[in-house]
Amino acid sequence: MTTNEIIKKLFIAFSKKDEEEFYRLAEELINLEKRKKHNIVAKELKEALYATSNIRINSNRRFKTDVPIPRDNDTGFPLLELRRYNHAWEELILSTKTDYALKQIVLGFKSHEILATYNLKPKNKILFCGMPGTGKTFSAQVISSYLGIPLVYVNFEAIISSYLGETATNLKKVFDFISNGVWIVLFDEVDIIGKNRDDQHETGEIKRVVNNFLQMLDNFEGDSLIIASTNHPHILDPAIWRRFDEVINFELPDRSERVSLLKLYLKPIKKEKDINIELIAEETEEFSPSDLKSMCRDAITHAIINERESITISDLRYSLDRFKERLALRTD
Ligand SMILES: Nc1ncnc2c1ncn2[C@@H]1O[C@H](COP(=O)(O)OP(=O)(O)OP(=O)(O)O)[C@@H](O)[C@H]1O
Ligand SMILES: [Mg+2]
Repeated sequence: MTTNEIIKKLFIAFSKKDEEEFYRLAEELINLEKRKKHNIVAKELKEALYATSNIRINSNRRFKTDVPIPRDNDTGFPLLELRRYNHAWEELILSTKTDYALKQIVLGFKSHEILATYNLKPKNKILFCGMPGTGKTFSAQVISSYLGIPLVYVNFEAIISSYLGETATNLKKVFDFISNGVWIVLFDEVDIIGKNRDDQHETGEIKRVVNNFLQMLDNFEGDSLIIASTNHPHILDPAIWRRFDEVINFELPDRSERVSLLKLYLKPIKKEKDINIELIAEETEEFSPSDLKSMCRDAITHAIINERESITISDLRYSLDRFKERLALRTD
């Protein structure tokens, strides 16, 4: 087909609201430009086609929701869950550096095909590390929402708590599942399998799982985006680090990030004029985003149960003091 013929058919597909045909023709037009060695035009068209947040994946790359969820043979427990989220990227407050690094991962994922024309692959084995409550699990949920692809949440408890010898089979089932489509996969809190392989207290079975996981990660050549998270990066075996294309570190929020977080979490309620968010941000230095969220929820609850429709500085002061007492008791 010539360019003109494709464009005519594109218009027809659009007016018939035939989305499949529209994308097929658009891809054909892009390929035609590539064949003419108009690489920049092809790249621009591709970006325009997939510009919206809900990435559309070619039919052969799309995730398949009709594949059965793998289960442990003995217990029958599901080894993973498919979870759908609807979070906006703006709900995630990170340092500019971390936010940029995350966006690069997403852009790489979206640019899969154009990268392939240069014989390149996007980074798709990512390790998230950082203190509890800094947004590792939440970031995976935001990425899944942004790309419009369900999150495959891998349940390590189910994988490991099975009968001896079953764990390797279970891991294989999980990798088989994720190789069978394009998913955002979260191996959450991998510490349980990622602990230093020389740790004397570990059983042979767990060591085998670690080795297995590493091998499967190494051999994985699918297009899914695999994220593993940990809040104990220091106990991870150096061999694990090498397996990942990228390591993203989630830090505690600085003062200006705390201001943004406080504004975000206090949004649901009217605020009295005496509330000074800058001051509260100043006083919450060691707080994680998750701590700030709980503190704001407590303050809002305090206002409501005391029959006030707007929140005052004393509500916030009360929950802040309670929280500080709790933090002082925390040992992690
Ligand atoms: N950077 C952030 N921006 C906005 N909200 C956040 C952020 N980090 C955490 N939160 C909020 O705190 C909640 C808990 O955070 P999350 O579960 O992502 O922490 P985590 O880093 O996975 O911690 P853990 O190591 O304990 O698993 C999230 O659901 C979200 O509401
Ligand atoms: Mg988590």
